[in-house]
Amino acid sequence: MERTVAIVADRVGWEERRLIDAAAGLGLSVEWVNDESLALGDQESASLGGYAAVLVRSRSYTRGGLIATVAEAARIPTLNTVSAIQACENKLTLRAQLRAAGVPVPDFRLVLSRRDFEKALAELPPPVVLKPVFGGMGKRVTLLRDADSAHSVYDYVEDLGHGFEQASLIEPYLAGGSSLRCFVVGRELVAIAEFHSAGTDWRSNAALGNRNRAVDLDPEVQKIVDGVLDVLGEGIFGIDLFATPDGYVVNEVNHAPAFRAVASATGVDIATAIGRYVREEIG
Ligand SMILES: Nc1ncnc2c1ncn2[C@@H]1O[C@H](COP(=O)(O)OP(=O)(O)O)[C@@H](O)[C@H]1O
Ligand SMILES: [Mg+2]
Repeated sequence: MERTVAIVADRVGWEERRLIDAAAGLGLSVEWVNDESLALGDQESASLGGYAAVLVRSRSYTRGGLIATVAEAARIPTLNTVSAIQACENKLTLRAQLRAAGVPVPDFRLVLSRRDFEKALAELPPPVVLKPVFGGMGKRVTLLRDADSAHSVYDYVEDLGHGFEQASLIEPYLAGGSSLRCFVVGRELVAIAEFHSAGTDWRSNAALGNRNRAVDLDPEVQKIVDGVLDVLGEGIFGIDLFATPDGYVVNEVNHAPAFRAVASATGVDIATAIGRYVREEIG
């Protein structure tokens, strides 16, 4: 098991299956490790102890950073780094770090209470998007087209959430319905696809079904991606851009990105690109 890489995830999904198959062709030894049965934290983090590295593929938006933190503390290398995972898991942290570094992001307001919500709506008038600070797979990302329904939507945030789930962002609705998914391995932009909403849902999330096509690299996109990597360091990322009249902005960065849709739109063998990178990293 000495040079085996642990693929830590809640299940072997399409991506993990592709990673396992690609690794076999590269002479890289990998093993799926269930992220639900680790009980990490003893001095050696024994359940990951013998692995050459941990590839964090947990779909949960809380597990990845926690697992990577204990693994790194036990000197087990993690892909991505703890700091990159933690930045990506928190939409506010990521936006703040990128904006401070001069990388364009959407305007936003942090909403922790109904009074924040009212103030945010006064400053950023509808249509706006209300989304959880900690979230993923497009869940609860809500388009508020009109001010008149906004407060009844906020009732759900207030009544059904706890503090952690209530933390939200309000941001302008960047219409157009399309976004770019830039897939990065190491420092290299290996594939770019444009996502469109499939029509039945306003969101264009890969997890919700959508239409995609490959697009060519444009220098503006490369510059933004380089700016993101200057902040996060190199790694394996799905960087989502929205087109605006003033150019692209970074909506979010996924630290354990799905790649089925990007791979099928572009024909790029993303699993092999990741496998090669992991092999280089473990030396
Ligand atoms: N400000 C926005 N303007 C337009 N569409 C948005 C906006 N924010 C989110 N969306 C849509 O909702 C989807 C999910 O939102 P996102 O911020 O990516 O959260 P998640 O982490 O849940 O994927 C996006 O892929 C996009 O289609
Ligand atoms: Mg998303």
